[in-house]
Amino acid sequence: MGNKNKQKDISRRGFLKTAATISAALTIQPAINKVKATSAALNGKSTSPETFRKMQHRTLGSGRAAMEVSALGFGVMGMTYNRSQHPDKKGCIRLLHEAVDRGVTLFDTAIIYGPLTNELLAGEALSEFKDRVNVTTKFGHEVIDGKGTGRQDSRPETVRRYCEESLRRLRTDSIPLFYQHRFDRNVPIEDVAGTISDLIKEGKIQRWGLCEVSVETIRKAHAIQPLTAIQSEYHLMHRLVEENGVLDACRELGIGFVPYSPLNRGFLGGCINEYTTFDPNNDNRQALPRFQPEAIRANMRIVNVLQQFGRTRGMTSSQVALGWLLQKAPWIVPIPGTTKLSHLEENLQTIEFSVTPEEWKELENMVAAIPVIGDRYNAEQQKQVGF
Ligand SMILES: NC(=O)c1ccc[n+]([C@@H]2O[C@H](COP(=O)([O-])OP(=O)(O)OC[C@H]3O[C@@H](n4cnc5c(N)ncnc54)[C@H](OP(=O)(O)O)[C@@H]3O)[C@@H](O)[C@H]2O)c1
Repeated sequence: MGNKNKQKDISRRGFLKTAATISAALTIQPAINKVKATSAALNGKSTSPETFRKMQHRTLGSGRAAMEVSALGFGVMGMTYNRSQHPDKKGCIRLLHEAVDRGVTLFDTAIIYGPLTNELLAGEALSEFKDRVNVTTKFGHEVIDGKGTGRQDSRPETVRRYCEESLRRLRTDSIPLFYQHRFDRNVPIEDVAGTISDLIKEGKIQRWGLCEVSVETIRKAHAIQPLTAIQSEYHLMHRLVEENGVLDACRELGIGFVPYSPLNRGFLGGCINEYTTFDPNNDNRQALPRFQPEAIRANMRIVNVLQQFGRTRGMTSSQVALGWLLQKAPWIVPIPGTTKLSHLEENLQTIEFSVTPEEWKELENMVAAIPVIGDRYNAEQQKQVGF
């Protein structure tokens, strides 16, 4: 979409119309009529009313597929998988409870994370809160004897088996939202949607979603079983979903959007530089073109722009990155991952800042003027997206 059209689109929807004149805590909020300040209480938990008062909710999906969640979710993946060293299980559980305590109600995991260990962690930490938080998970990557094979398997019998196994690991009897993690070229999406429909009728899952798919696939799938959310990579350094029609289709069809890796796998947080070493046994960033030292060095210019933008506004670069995503649409819910309480608090505080649409546009233009060096995925991973 060209800049002019984007502008028109924004004003048509009335997003952020009055934001410039509204007080700080509400600046992201007024654009978002579905977002509600919540005063929900966690039974018996130690949540301070102050923290809770700040948490906002958003709705992913519509009609019977709708799911209300906190405006920012939590990506659990890095607590066991692909993000180098992490605290021990006790530390991770404590942090997940801190997130619940602060009003986070959307937690994201997948069978392939670990594999299996991430769902086990999420189940152990979060099943006691299942009445008030949503642990979403994903099927599709083939896992045999606890190991990923690199193949896809979304055949009906496998989806059913994965569902049963995820239910056990998550210690629950119904999955709030079950995503297909990657498209399976051997199984038409209509068949996947049919299997999901049956699982919803049986109460094993409540809703479903797709990751990294095309508009065509979204339309076919949604026609059979309404989708709650599309989950794809989206952040200031990767805006493909604005160009390939996915965000427009979500808007048109009333489907929510969950940007994954909203900090570009930590890069936009400013704690990674060309000397950063990634755990060779547990970090996919070492194999990503965008995380090679040369690319990191060049792309630091983008982090510098975010830091500069945040300086006069009292925001960190992570808060700038997350705030930019939140103001894009009221049905967008980013899921940053972290292993640190300080980062969790920093990320959740994003909703408190005051930034006008004009200022966001200025940031967007400054970032867009800097070429992004290095692809987001290597050739093998790239083959699995965009169907
Ligand atoms: N559907 C898919 O195909 C797919 C693919 C990838 C990821 N995901 C989902 O998306 C979630 C998030 O993705 P992600 O982990 O790849 O990327 P991310 O959320 O963009 O970045 C996570 C990294 O950022 C760091 N970080 C977090 N907050 C920070 C802050 N305030 N300042 C500085 N650094 C900060 C974390 O390190 P610390 O631990 O040091 O804070 C962590 O290593 C995952 O957990 C997963 O659920 C889905």
